[in-house]
Amino acid sequence: MCYNLIVMNYEQSMKDKFKALRDKKDVLILSIESSCDETSVAIVKNGREVLANIIATQIEIHRRFGGVVPEVASRNHITAISNIFEEALTEAKITKNDIDAIAVTYGAGLIGALLVGVNFAKALAYSLDIPLIAVSHVHGHISANYISHQALKPPFVCLMVSGGHTALLQVDDYNSFKLLGTTVDDAVGEAFDKVARVLELPYPGGPEIDKLAKSGQNNIKFTISNSLKDSLNFSFSGVKTGVVNLVHNLKQKGEQINKADIACSFQESVTDELCEKATRAIKQAGINKLVIAGGVGANSCLNAKMRKFAQENNFEVFSPVLKYCTDNAAMIGSAGYYMLKDGIGLADLTLSAKPNVSL
Ligand code: KG4
Ligand code: ZN
Repeated sequence: MCYNLIVMNYEQSMKDKFKALRDKKDVLILSIESSCDETSVAIVKNGREVLANIIATQIEIHRRFGGVVPEVASRNHITAISNIFEEALTEAKITKNDIDAIAVTYGAGLIGALLVGVNFAKALAYSLDIPLIAVSHVHGHISANYISHQALKPPFVCLMVSGGHTALLQVDDYNSFKLLGTTVDDAVGEAFDKVARVLELPYPGGPEIDKLAKSGQNNIKFTISNSLKDSLNFSFSGVKTGVVNLVHNLKQKGEQINKADIACSFQESVTDELCEKATRAIKQAGINKLVIAGGVGANSCLNAKMRKFAQENNFEVFSPVLKYCTDNAAMIGSAGYYMLKDGIGLADLTLSAKPNVSL
């Protein structure tokens, strides 16, 4: 059969199957995430119950380069994905014939890395004759909270903080988002990683800053740009440059660099900004639930500070347990389930990876 016919037949037959799944009592989704340096396959039941969530991390491989090397990431995804898939089935104690649908991250992320997951997902969906759901990575990060907090439902305000994104979103329903504010330059995780690099800490820098800051003092004033103070937008490039300049000046003068104090002061300044703007967004939206999402959501200072702000301003805070903060496929399975329930996101075999995707 020619390729075009295969694509057409698959697309046609999936429409009904996808619709039928909306009313099925129990839906098992196999999900795939490969947008950066984690290859992950999960099996998620009804969007909330994780039967397996296997993650092969490449952190050790990229550490010697001081950051993720895209080509190296793609190659390692290729090597890992089949084994991770088999491992997920074994852990979930199911066979591939038990799967109702496949959900895959198609963007945003590194194009070569994404393509590995997308192509694996397409081949699997076609061979099993089941629907394929295209999920945005950011949507996945938000949904990680549905796994960690079984009773959590929209509406809520989401503070999305990762290596690639920083945003405040009003989440009115599982698939309905309004952007309240975003970064005008660096993502907050990017700033953490850059500051860590200038302090000669290993990759990934965020968790290293978090650790080091615990033994430091907040005694250096790193100011956040004032120009955005009346909006819900963020800017982190100024504070990042402030750290870089300070470290270079100290080095030039041959003076001692107190890394712990720098880490602590930087982290305090950034988390103050995140907490203040998230609190303002909560008040503006008139919603008293704040959900933190993305890798920087693992930051201990951010979590503690946000809970203090929440107590003082009368709102609730949710963040995923640590293993669901950073990249994982379970969050993609949860997002995919609620997309399926709303009848959206059905993809066909022409699905491709996209480096930039909005929600
Ligand atoms: O969500 P994620 O795993 O990948 C992206 O979608 O970008 O986020 C990765 C980012 C990195 O910048 C990493 O340094 C940061 O999350 N991160 C942290 C912590 N754990 C991970 N940043 C601050 N404190 C942490 N504990
Ligand atoms: Zn991520």
